[in-house]
Amino acid sequence: MTEPAGKRALITGITGQDGSYLAELLLSKGYEVHGLVRRSSSFNTSRIDHLYVDPHEPDARLFLHYGDLTDGARLVTLLTTIKPAEVYNLAAQSHVRVSFDEPVHTGDTTGMGSMRLLEAVRLSGLDCRFYQASSSEMFGASPPPQDEDTPFYPRSPYGAAKVYSYWATRNYREAYGMFAVNGILFNHESPRRGETFVTRKITRAVARIKAGVQDKLYLGNLDAVRDWGYAPEYVEGMWMMLQSDVADDYVLATGRGFTVREFVEASFSHVGLDWEDHVVFDERYLRPTEVDALIGDAGKAERALGWQAKTHSADLARLMVAADVTAQECEGRPWIDQPLVAGWPSA
Ligand code: NAP
Ligand code: GDD
Repeated sequence: MTEPAGKRALITGITGQDGSYLAELLLSKGYEVHGLVRRSSSFNTSRIDHLYVDPHEPDARLFLHYGDLTDGARLVTLLTTIKPAEVYNLAAQSHVRVSFDEPVHTGDTTGMGSMRLLEAVRLSGLDCRFYQASSSEMFGASPPPQDEDTPFYPRSPYGAAKVYSYWATRNYREAYGMFAVNGILFNHESPRRGETFVTRKITRAVARIKAGVQDKLYLGNLDAVRDWGYAPEYVEGMWMMLQSDVADDYVLATGRGFTVREFVEASFSHVGLDWEDHVVFDERYLRPTEVDALIGDAGKAERALGWQAKTHSADLARLMVAADVTAQECEGRPWIDQPLVAGWPSA
């Protein structure tokens, strides 16, 4: 694919795992990158601090703007001011278990937030391309393998909100001719993964147990099957979808299933520990309705975009454990310039 020069992109959710990798990728391709950041009383930009350049500098190409998907007027103002050629909507309340505790907030951000952004694009009259971060959670109870034609059967307020956003995106494509695409992404992880998602919870605990500062790891359902890939590969797929000639929806996945138990085993054994000495079941981590098995078929993305996952679950577990072990080794020695585990461009 030819690389664009000097394009401008807006990323919502730039402070999250995917947003940080996508910002890196777009900057490396010569884009000017604008990111929507939620106002918080504490800093929430640790994943992108390594990319930040003072906007007064002539070579600055990353610009951050306060905003929130719950504030539609602000979205219109930002779009008309920034005039991006590409908009990546990655912002969401993205934790499935939390969506049962905060279903209305999840609906407002993960669901209505996308509609507000689509409507802001329409009202601003911009001719831009739009990426919606859709999710394999939409398939829910539909058995694997899941692809673009698999019926949706969401099993959480999060999954239901993502289905709403998926159809809103398709509707704006069909109703207004907007170049709007859904990337239906299966789970993807990295050392930058939020600490309460199961992979990162496991790999951080392994590092802490190895260091002797923790002994037990409390987990819920170990039988769930997920198709875990590596986040930097997936943000490349997002970009490819927006460079395509035709607006369409694509699944990104590795095509392989791995249970939570297998991820635990791979993580503990990487540092010579027996997981059964440390992992304890805690029912508080169960969900009222579970998604038992997600295994994606990314054949369409491979054929149309040339995208294919390279990193699979066992390698991912080892890569994440290694990063957390390094981070743990630096903890408690603040005078050492800590390797930016959260900020490694390629970790
Ligand atoms: P993440 O790490 O949880 O990041 C979510 C981002 O959304 C953060 O930047 C967060 O800001 C921002 N955000 C939350 N509520 C917001 C609001 N009301 N207004 C503006 N920004 C808001 O998620 P991720 O793993 O990078 O995933 C990116 C997107 O892909 C999400 O939409 C997620 O649902 C979807 N997805 C993820 C996966 C996966 O396996 N990672 C798979 C399929 C789909 P703060 O930093 O301030 O919290
Ligand atoms: N978080 C968590 N914590 N999950 C646990 C735990 C635990 O202690 N114990 C077992 N699990 C199981 C969950 O029940 C689930 O079956 C599986 O581990 C994965 O949970 P998460 O890592 O929280 O991810 P998820 O699959 O629910 O959702 C992620 O992937 C979706 C794509 O399929 C999120 O990134 C979503 O935003 C994303 O859309």
